[in-house]
Amino acid sequence: MTDPLAALRPWEAPEVTSWGRLPMNAVDRRPGALSLDGEWRFRLLPAPQAADGVPWSALHVPGAWTMQDTDDRPQYTNVTMPFGAFPPHAPAADPTGVHERDLDVPAEWAGRRIVLQVGAAESVLLVHVDGRPVGLSKDSHLAAEFDLTEVVRPGARSVLRLTVVKWSDASHIEDQDHWWHGGITRSVLLYATDPLHLADVTVRARRSGELRVDCAVRDRGGALPDGWYVSADLDGELLAQDAEFDRLNAEDDRGSDFLGEARVRTVVPGVRTWNAEQPELYGLTVRLHRADGSVADTSYHRVGFRDVEIAGRDLLVNGERVFVRGINRHDFHPLTGRTMSYDDMRADLVLLKRFGFNAVRTAHYPNDPAFYDLADELGLYVVDEADIESHDHAHEIADDPRYLNAFVDRVSRMVLRDKNHPSVIIWSLGNESDYGANHDAAAGWVRRHDPTRPLQYEGAAKRGWADPDVASDIACPMYAPLAECVAHALSGEQTKPLIQCEYSHAMGNSNGTLADHWAAIESTPGLQGGFIWEFWDHGILQRVSGGRPVGRAGAGLYDNGVAAPGHRWAYGGDFGEATHDGAFVADGMVFPDRTPKPALYEHRELAAPVRIRCFRHEGIVLANHQHFRGFDWLTATWELALADGRTLTGPAELPELCPGETAAVPLPFEVPADGGEAWLTLRVTTAGDQAWAPTGTEVCAPQIRLRAPVPAPAAVPGGPDVEVDGEGLLLHPLLAAAPTLSLWRAPTDNDELGGIAPRWRAWGLDSLVRKVVSVRRAHDRVTVLAEYAGTTGVVRHRQEFTAVEGGIRVDESAELPDRFDDVARVGSVFETVAGPELLEWFGQGPWESYPDRAAGAPVGHHSLPVDELFTPYLRPQESGGRHGVRRFTLSAPDAAGLAVELDEPRQVSVSRYRAEDLTAAAHHDELVPRAGCVVHIDAAHRGLGTASCGPDTLPSYLVAPGVHRWSWTLRTL
Ligand code: GAL
Ligand code: MG
Repeated sequence: MTDPLAALRPWEAPEVTSWGRLPMNAVDRRPGALSLDGEWRFRLLPAPQAADGVPWSALHVPGAWTMQDTDDRPQYTNVTMPFGAFPPHAPAADPTGVHERDLDVPAEWAGRRIVLQVGAAESVLLVHVDGRPVGLSKDSHLAAEFDLTEVVRPGARSVLRLTVVKWSDASHIEDQDHWWHGGITRSVLLYATDPLHLADVTVRARRSGELRVDCAVRDRGGALPDGWYVSADLDGELLAQDAEFDRLNAEDDRGSDFLGEARVRTVVPGVRTWNAEQPELYGLTVRLHRADGSVADTSYHRVGFRDVEIAGRDLLVNGERVFVRGINRHDFHPLTGRTMSYDDMRADLVLLKRFGFNAVRTAHYPNDPAFYDLADELGLYVVDEADIESHDHAHEIADDPRYLNAFVDRVSRMVLRDKNHPSVIIWSLGNESDYGANHDAAAGWVRRHDPTRPLQYEGAAKRGWADPDVASDIACPMYAPLAECVAHALSGEQTKPLIQCEYSHAMGNSNGTLADHWAAIESTPGLQGGFIWEFWDHGILQRVSGGRPVGRAGAGLYDNGVAAPGHRWAYGGDFGEATHDGAFVADGMVFPDRTPKPALYEHRELAAPVRIRCFRHEGIVLANHQHFRGFDWLTATWELALADGRTLTGPAELPELCPGETAAVPLPFEVPADGGEAWLTLRVTTAGDQAWAPTGTEVCAPQIRLRAPVPAPAAVPGGPDVEVDGEGLLLHPLLAAAPTLSLWRAPTDNDELGGIAPRWRAWGLDSLVRKVVSVRRAHDRVTVLAEYAGTTGVVRHRQEFTAVEGGIRVDESAELPDRFDDVARVGSVFETVAGPELLEWFGQGPWESYPDRAAGAPVGHHSLPVDELFTPYLRPQESGGRHGVRRFTLSAPDAAGLAVELDEPRQVSVSRYRAEDLTAAAHHDELVPRAGCVVHIDAAHRGLGTASCGPDTLPSYLVAPGVHRWSWTLRTL
């Protein structure tokens, strides 16, 4: 390339953030624009200044070339930069994509101002028309606009070339924890306006009904024509330009020949305010008129009237201290990498609403404009985060004046674009970039430009949660231990709302202790919530036979969280990257195809708008846990599960309750005197269509126990003889492997990365050696003593098999030495012969649950095919457990089955895989299901915690050393 743009080598010049780029603004130009999306001519050069000898191929725009048929593949790193050059340098090998297409400019655009908008390009965009340089831009997740009026001719064809350089000085501040890609990832548009145009529109709408619309007006020709004015209508009501503002402007001598400023203001009486529960929006159309009244330009906005403020240590929305039930979300798609359609984004947000979330942090960059429209419409509070993360070189860059411009540029452009969205309640300066003068400069700009919203930055808050001098109005730590948060709130030192920007790391089988977090948040003034890390498992669909991502052709090649045979969800390292961070990219609450993980149900219940407080005097106390709404949008049915197998149901009446209120409601039925343990579940569903859920969508299922278990009568002795082999192993026609002691689970990501599983291995728990010590036979029972030797300790295990009517009762105990002070489980494992396919159980369910993640799985009578019990976490690990199981049967329509009765509610899992099968596999497709079932009955099972990044489970969910006892009865069906 010999053109002047390239000659500047802007990819190694952090001071250069743009050239020829129009200022960012909030005028929506999508309606009426010409889409340039589709097939473009493409060639991939090895470096920006490489000779152009590469032949043209075709590429879909928008779409990263790393997700299409090129040799430059996706690469995943968390902190480490994928190349060695220090900032601001780029590596010599620097893939550069040249995108080219013909541009047919409509003849009717003659005399108009013609603008190109490139939705997003990473990381440096160079624009040429017919070989002439037009502009350049950085900031990979915001649009860049260029005025093409002088370089194209209406009615004629031009050639548009967009050159995208992958690695640059900007990559060092785009070092977020996700896949690296290259290319144009959002839509490209061409639009035309009158030369006289709205350069920006700023809308401020308050909960008082006050509305202020500030317009900036320009003319492409320079001087503004005389007599222009603006008008607006709000839901059809015409509003006029504010004469007082005009007069003040004139009196202040602020008039300008080329910058027009106009204001519209009004007060809407009885305004319907906006909040995440009731996202009321008004339609605002702003018109710019010429002197003769004709319309030169229009801009449409949806307006939500609401206030955000911080009072003391509370964040208030419309005066209410709202809980922030948030999640971090990346733009992600398993087929395109980053490019998402409107429908994809809508599906993401609809799912979040259905699972009780009310907030999103746009980790770690501004999202597609449609995302904010959807958040406004569906009702989500947004922490809008600027595209700044310099993780690997955070300290060097935070105070580097060469990057000052880039910091202010990125933060200000985000604010300029998104300022009119009611959903955006907080600005974030970025992520994991240390804290320096560059942040303060950006914060200063925001404070002046938008005093209506708080600002946060974790890197600044870290300097002191209560420090008034740092650039963060919120104490927004990541992964702070719960006890530390509570202690801060109780310390008397707290000055800012405490809302964790990241917590409860969702990698693999995780989100343990979420209920403990919410119990503390809801009961501790000063704690207001947080954002779970994160929404997506970023698995890219890949053919197993190596190589490229499947790409856009892969629709239909996955289902229910699982890739089709011959395919897998690729994570770090699967594209042959030498430097990568493995499965750490798979840490979300949904699978790569948006299938919910079980942890989402936990969250849904913890966010329940309807709660059952207690059961008293034949009635239950209900509470409204919303901030703004009554129960009129909900309907409910009750469900009574009795231990004897019955489930009774009926319609329930929800009382009229204001937010925060409680009421005692009599039970609308009589609890049967018989039937044993009894659980009441209120199944709450939407009474009418919501924007995010059709009528009848389940919203929550709060539950309360009405009657404790009734002790089971002692088993009647007798029945078939108990047989064991010479090793003391039970012989049974339905068991392919006798029950033995299990202390091992396939390490979860938390176990592995939290350093817990390495200890288990060091103790030899993955390869315990069983040695029978004694077998004693009495008339109706056999007692077996065995020892399980690890490398550093021995566990004594006792099993007593007693013949009872119809089966065998197994009483077990295990004594763990003190040094085994934190094991995965203590329990029995056995395997059935082939045949059983259906699990029916009385206990918690239907979805997977664990001791520290069991708040969202109600007790009841559940049944699922064995193959559906399993949760296909990307890196196979312990999964499919069910908590609080009282009894279960395993059956097949035409084969013998078995029934197991437990002495008390236990953790049970039934699967086609042994723990060692799961431990050995790196991807789901490597697993080969066994014909029989592998059954675990645990006397104790360790909590899941979140130690892959953040706190481990709480001490109360650990499995203690010492003696554990458990009993169960096995019968043939
Ligand atoms: C945080 C970071 C996220 C992600 C997460 C771990 O430190 O902000 O981007 O890396 O940890 O998954
Ligand atoms: Mg990071």
